[in-house]
Amino acid sequence: MKIIETISAMQSAADEIRLSRKTIGVVPTMGYLHKGHLSLIKVARENADIVIVTIFVNPTQFAPHEDFNSYPRDISRDTQLAEMAGVDILFIPSSNEMYPSDFLTTINVKHLESKLEGESRPGHFQGVATIVAILFNITKPHVAIFGQKDAQQAIVIKRMVQDLNFDIKIIVAPTVRESDGLAMSSRNTYLSPIERSESAVLFAALKEAEYLIKNGMKNCLTIKENMSKLILSKKSAAIDYISIANPITLDEYEILEKSQLVLISLAVRLGKTRLIDNILINI
Ligand code: PAJ
Repeated sequence: MKIIETISAMQSAADEIRLSRKTIGVVPTMGYLHKGHLSLIKVARENADIVIVTIFVNPTQFAPHEDFNSYPRDISRDTQLAEMAGVDILFIPSSNEMYPSDFLTTINVKHLESKLEGESRPGHFQGVATIVAILFNITKPHVAIFGQKDAQQAIVIKRMVQDLNFDIKIIVAPTVRESDGLAMSSRNTYLSPIERSESAVLFAALKEAEYLIKNGMKNCLTIKENMSKLILSKKSAAIDYISIANPITLDEYEILEKSQLVLISLAVRLGKTRLIDNILINI
């Protein structure tokens, strides 16, 4: 596995790969790799000749009060995991080179970026869309893999790729979970033992919603009330939002109808840790 740390070296490497008529698959990450990331790498392997993983804890997608400084980092462990997963190139750029002092440009995926996560984390998706566009221009992929775990992120990126005509296929891979249903996340390391055991309630609430819907419940307010009750039965839990929405526009549904695709998503705080999860169901 090659480790590349500068933009020009990464762009030259990508050019060479393309010249040799091989395809590039990229998996953008913020590191502290876990099985969720590794599953995306596997999907990249299946869909491209050369797999590039990027590791960059992107400062512009964190608000000033958020966890940018404490976000877990372990490059040597990440390097080992990436090597074992068969990654060809690990791109680990520096913040100075990614955001020089005269940097001015941002990408806004209007409307989609201000809902759900965007409402709770203003500016977050501007940071995400901008860094992903930068990473695409540096790694020059044919295909890029994102996780369903961050459903809105995948929706925003797909829209950006469509609107700006990036010639890149976006694949969204399923959420990888712990045995009790908790979606794997680098932030799970923040949880105390009690919070960790209570955190299974996020997936339990999503499954409860799925069960109610499959049994004919159509009123979204009632479904959300049932989910809230379950979540708030856990002492450390506070709800940020629960959403039942159209997975393309992210507009909220009030009454569900047959043959609808429905994205049920939530953000819950367990103590100081904010976790998100979602499921996509076809009624
Ligand atoms: P990060 O949180 O490191 O996640 C990198 C990728 O892994 C994302 O596409 C995310 O959806 C996916 N992922 C995380 N947990 C997962 C799980 N349990 N199962 C499946 N996929 C999972 O998302 C980001 O970084 C950043 O916003 C980034 C896109 C790199 C831009 O900075």
